[in-house]
Amino acid sequence: MKRIALIAVAMLACMACGESGKEQSAIRLLEEAEFNTVIDGKQVALYTLTNSNGMTVQLTNYGARVAALWVPDRNGTFHDVVLGYESIDEYLSGDAYAGPVVGRYGNRIREGRFTLDGKSYELNRNEGKNHLHGGSGGWWSKVWEAGPIAKEDCGCESITFSLRSPDGEQGYPGTVDIRITYLLSHDNTLALIYEATTDAPTVLNPTSHCYFNLHGSTMQSTDTHLLEIRADSFTPTDAELIPTGEIVSVEGTPLDFRTPTPIGQRIDDDFEALHFGKGYDHNFVLNRTGDLSIAAIVTEPSNGIRMTIHTNQPGLQFYSGNGMTGNGVGKWGNRFNYRSGIALETQNFPDAPNHPNFPSSVLRPGETYRQLTVYGFDTVE
Ligand code: BGC
Repeated sequence: MKRIALIAVAMLACMACGESGKEQSAIRLLEEAEFNTVIDGKQVALYTLTNSNGMTVQLTNYGARVAALWVPDRNGTFHDVVLGYESIDEYLSGDAYAGPVVGRYGNRIREGRFTLDGKSYELNRNEGKNHLHGGSGGWWSKVWEAGPIAKEDCGCESITFSLRSPDGEQGYPGTVDIRITYLLSHDNTLALIYEATTDAPTVLNPTSHCYFNLHGSTMQSTDTHLLEIRADSFTPTDAELIPTGEIVSVEGTPLDFRTPTPIGQRIDDDFEALHFGKGYDHNFVLNRTGDLSIAAIVTEPSNGIRMTIHTNQPGLQFYSGNGMTGNGVGKWGNRFNYRSGIALETQNFPDAPNHPNFPSSVLRPGETYRQLTVYGFDTVE
């Protein structure tokens, strides 16, 4: 799909997501001054997009990340449903994966090694002997070029962050040019439109690593969220969370989210994959129904907030925040408490470069990588 088509599809993707039409409560904005700094000689800043319903997203070009996302609940009260920090200094010392684009390769590559066109490549190993989320100098740690906030034809606001990743970065071949556009529409959808090209064959799998908590507070666990994942199967892993290469049915397992189920209901079941992940930390093989399919729907019954995720990607990594320790204070005094934020990462399968039976993650010169993922918000009674 070309970019224009991607934007059109993005805006149609969540037709069901309507306006709240109710009185709105105040939104507490992050302060631009707290993000105004220079890192690696590049200017870092905070950008704010708002739609006609008051839904607001704040983004920073440090890691092309979502810093705040305010959506209304069933009473019109707004909640900031992503975890993050109030200043760039806290981002630099806090959880590296709070809201950024991770890449070049989201999730793990076994032993930081793969072979492409007969040549083997050694990547940075930042998790034991494995490579995670693009390595210790992954895209989440880079200052991206930020475009101006743009007005699209729909009157919606968007912003594009772009990055040139040099040949050999973290061990990957090819100079890769990537850009991501965040487009906030008036139907309460936030579209993430990724495009990338390369000057030499490489592998690529960027994803957004927001931690969501639909309560808007990490004092309340995500265990109560009802989760539906449109996937009949998943990719089992070994104890280091590296895929074995198998594709296994979710039927009869705690990974069967084909009907909405509270996240906490089976999270501690005696099931090997849950032991390995210390909770949910698995790649689901999405049932695709077209260019853009529903990947997951998350609902918090207490306030009615519902998030619907559409994507054109083959996989969804569901990580239930099992590594969060409660250390470090995030925005609005929210600690990153154990299992208080869920990541739902639309992507190719982990370690696909080492599994010929997984969808290809190879990008070649002359091709354009395109990912469209849309987060839509509405409420249920
Ligand atoms: C991975 C987890 C990892 C986490 C870090 C997730 O995408 O699946 O294994 O611990 O990112 O935030």
